[in-house]
Amino acid sequence: MTEPAVRLRNVHLTLGAGRSAVHVLKGVDLFVERGESVGIVGPSGSGKSTLLMVLAGLERADAGEVEIAGQSLVGLSEDQLAAFRGRNVGIVFQSFHLIPNMTALENVAVPLELAGHPDAFERAERELGQVGLADRIAHYPGELSGGEQQRVAMARALAPEPAILIADEPTGNLDQETGRQVADLLFAEREKRGMTLVLVTHDPNLAHRCEREIAVRSGEIHDDRMRSGMASAHLGETLESRPA
Ligand SMILES: Nc1ncnc2c1ncn2[C@@H]1O[C@H](COP(=O)(O)OP(=O)(O)OP(=O)(O)O)[C@@H](O)[C@H]1O
Ligand SMILES: [Mg+2]
Repeated sequence: MTEPAVRLRNVHLTLGAGRSAVHVLKGVDLFVERGESVGIVGPSGSGKSTLLMVLAGLERADAGEVEIAGQSLVGLSEDQLAAFRGRNVGIVFQSFHLIPNMTALENVAVPLELAGHPDAFERAERELGQVGLADRIAHYPGELSGGEQQRVAMARALAPEPAILIADEPTGNLDQETGRQVADLLFAEREKRGMTLVLVTHDPNLAHRCEREIAVRSGEIHDDRMRSGMASAHLGETLESRPA
């Protein structure tokens, strides 16, 4: 069996210091197979975004094992973590996080260029075409609708062909119809590229589109189940509830 896309074991993380310290992740175990789609749900403040940050190598666990795409992140330097992210992880945020004084094309191409891709601009143009924005590449983020901005952010996340796509409430700032279109695109690209998808959402409909749903409560995995009719990647079972 190939190594899982995500392997977390007993991960703890406290954010903040002194009186504002919060024990956010309290012993999280999480395994995600390659190619699986996982929707993470849970109340506000339960630690969902923090968990994604750990998966992305943007936050370091205080304790426990973190292995992403076969690589242990424990003990990596900041530079090594950045290089790891560039190769393996694409991230999409609720509020798009585009650079306002760069065009759509530059927003996608510049990170590729910094990562050493020689054909960064051609590739960026292709990726923007894939998300339906061929006629918007010279627009600045302020000249794009929310849905279009999120599609630029998706093109940027997908362009390096990451093994794992992480999305934190990717439709949270969009109206229902636009959100559905962005989600359609997200799942279509994931299917086409065989990527692992881990997304956080407050939208039950979006979570239901994932093969597996995980509920987080107070920094712990509270529930973890495959969707009915969808085969577990490694057990071949359906409607399986995994103990947290
Ligand atoms: N830098 C920080 N210092 C201290 N506490 C923090 C810090 N960042 C987050 N927290 C706390 O950690 C908890 C989890 O935050 P997190 O952003 O992961 O929640 P969430 O589940 O994503 O919530 P939401 O659904 O509202 O986005 C919150 O109670 C938050 O106040
Ligand atoms: Mg959050």
